[in-house]
Amino acid sequence: MTRHVIAAVDELPPGTRKFLDIDGRPIAIFNIKGEFFGLLNRCPHQGAALCEGPLIGLAQSSDPGEIEYTKLGEIIRCPWHGWEFDIRTGQSYCDPKRFRARAYPVNVEPGTAVVKGPYVAETIAVSVESDYVVVDL
Ligand code: FES
Repeated sequence: MTRHVIAAVDELPPGTRKFLDIDGRPIAIFNIKGEFFGLLNRCPHQGAALCEGPLIGLAQSSDPGEIEYTKLGEIIRCPWHGWEFDIRTGQSYCDPKRFRARAYPVNVEPGTAVVKGPYVAETIAVSVESDYVVVDL
């Protein structure tokens, strides 16, 4: 597994998404309320660019006439036939046992851990022997 640096956190504010091609795979990275998630940009139904669809919520009902709208901005609706998937898991709400969008783990890491400058100064080993600082060239 190869790590890929996607963007600085500031470049992807909550409610936005970024489209990428990683090793030939179309992927979208979403910032959902400060959490980051990745989805393959291909609908498991008939292959539409799933991640170009609108972000919506989930209508749930526990009793007739009582509808609760949850997961606001966490569900993506496919632009072709309207199937809906949970961005956090890739789960389909149309047929959860058969269809699932491919989800990818996304982490936020400190810049010092992933972004190093392009130039490296030559370093020289220095040691202390008795009371003398010694450099080996
Ligand atoms: S291709 Fe996505 S719902 Fe049909």
